[in-house]
Amino acid sequence: MVLEGQVAIVTGGGRGIGKAIASRFAAEGADIGIIDVNAEAARATAEEIRPLGRRAVAAIADVGSVGAVKAAVSEILGELGRLDVLVNNAGVEKRTPFLEITPEDWQRQLDVNLSGTFYCTQAAGREMAKRKYGRIVNISSVAGLIGPIDLAAYGAAKAGIIGLTRAAALDLADYGITVNAIAPGPIETDLMRGVWTAEALRERPQHGAIARFGTVDEIAHTALFLASPQSGFITGTTLSVDGGAVAAGAYMVEKYRRRKLAAK
Ligand SMILES: NC(=O)c1ccc[n+]([C@@H]2O[C@H](COP(=O)([O-])OP(=O)(O)OC[C@H]3O[C@@H](n4cnc5c(N)ncnc54)[C@H](O)[C@@H]3O)[C@@H](O)[C@H]2O)c1
Repeated sequence: MVLEGQVAIVTGGGRGIGKAIASRFAAEGADIGIIDVNAEAARATAEEIRPLGRRAVAAIADVGSVGAVKAAVSEILGELGRLDVLVNNAGVEKRTPFLEITPEDWQRQLDVNLSGTFYCTQAAGREMAKRKYGRIVNISSVAGLIGPIDLAAYGAAKAGIIGLTRAAALDLADYGITVNAIAPGPIETDLMRGVWTAEALRERPQHGAIARFGTVDEIAHTALFLASPQSGFITGTTLSVDGGAVAAGAYMVEKYRRRKLAAK
């Protein structure tokens, strides 16, 4: 098993992509700490993991709060004793035309997506540095690589995660810690269903080269690759797992734009 005897923290592990990553890591031998703001969902994931024979701790915290993150990481360390892997997956997304974005919505998306990634990386990095080993995987988005429409705050935060990934990779390399990001394309989850209209959900898979949604298991598989001890020479990079959406580039954006104009 790839993560035999290791401990991994997965933020936003209560549902969707984070839950799939937590379950996959547990199946590969890791004990799991989940940090999620949704207590019921976090505890349910922990309950599902324990029958695999792994330990699982659900720490309830908002990753946008530095104090809550510190408390959650030390709760997990207290229970599980060490830390090898961190996956910064917790995220929020709100679709709003640019001129209507409120300062509160802007700030919240920056706080959770970007600052949350920094707070967790710093808290985990301090622990990993003591043992000179760590794997940090940040979940960005194709929205951080191309100009998304009606997603300025989310796109800025996700692009920020890519910059933070590069910077942290340099600063933490001397401590044996790698830092990489995954930029998923459209993955069918509750987040996706909550943000996109039914029509957009029908159209969206057509925009990449591979005309379907990605699955949470495909992101979990990539996270496991970057989290594995064998990936020690990969750091500071962002891996798109998007069915060719970034390869489609301007073509994809043009399709959105046409749909938006047609809806007016
Ligand atoms: N679904 C997609 O198409 C897609 C595409 C690209 C990137 N992503 C990114 O992948 C990640 C997971 O997305 P998902 O689709 O599984 O979302 P989701 O909404 O299904 O799950 C997100 C989880 O994060 C938790 N969470 C939200 N805010 C939090 C906070 N402040 N503190 C702690 N936990 C919090 C939620 O409770 C939930 O359990 C996000 O970062 C998202 O931006 C998703």
